[in-house]
Amino acid sequence: MTQDELKALVGQAALAYVVPGSIVGVGTGSTVNCFIDALATMKDQIRGAVSSSVKSTERLQALGIPVFDANEVESIPVYIDGADEIDHSGCMVKGGGAALTREKIVADLAERFICIADESKLVPVMGRFPLPVEVIPMAAAQVARRFAATYGGTGTVREGVVTDNGNLILDVRGLQITDPLAMEAEVNQWPGVVTVGIFGRHKAKVCLLGTPQGVKTLAF
Ligand code: 5RP
Repeated sequence: MTQDELKALVGQAALAYVVPGSIVGVGTGSTVNCFIDALATMKDQIRGAVSSSVKSTERLQALGIPVFDANEVESIPVYIDGADEIDHSGCMVKGGGAALTREKIVADLAERFICIADESKLVPVMGRFPLPVEVIPMAAAQVARRFAATYGGTGTVREGVVTDNGNLILDVRGLQITDPLAMEAEVNQWPGVVTVGIFGRHKAKVCLLGTPQGVKTLAF
């Protein structure tokens, strides 16, 4: 099976977690695009979606799924999103699509984070995928220096990318994220950091992992 087929498989499988009559939290990325396409087949059974990016909003609306502003919504039963890496405790690295801040905001509204990913994303220790950090532009160099001094990682500004919030993405290479909760708490304190792409406090409750043998369900 190709990686795209595995993404389609988990996108479809995620429909089982959609609560009829509810507003669904929708993430961003190629795996989520498969989920959005599948969600369109049951759009009459949901109230709509809260979206984590302009791209996902456009795709949802093009398929006739109403999109609510996050400020209109107090709580949602599930948030469904992909990941760049997920460890065996359900902590994730996210932000490969530069949508990490809005993803964390929508995840925060949700009772359960359902991660959908192909099996290549499951890792023993996160850090091989460069850690995305959304930063206020004037702080980019200082945050990169602080990463080098604190964790030994090398941060570079992602070229040609401005987030939906008008900020930059710093990609930090060379990290071993052995304590995701501690690193998330620390980096989020640094001036100029909008959000670090570690999802430890907002980790997955369930991961639907696409494998050649079918969908494997991990619960955390
Ligand atoms: C976007 C994200 C995505 O969930 C992550 O990059 C995975 O994307 P894909 O499903 O395309 O592999 O965090 O900011």
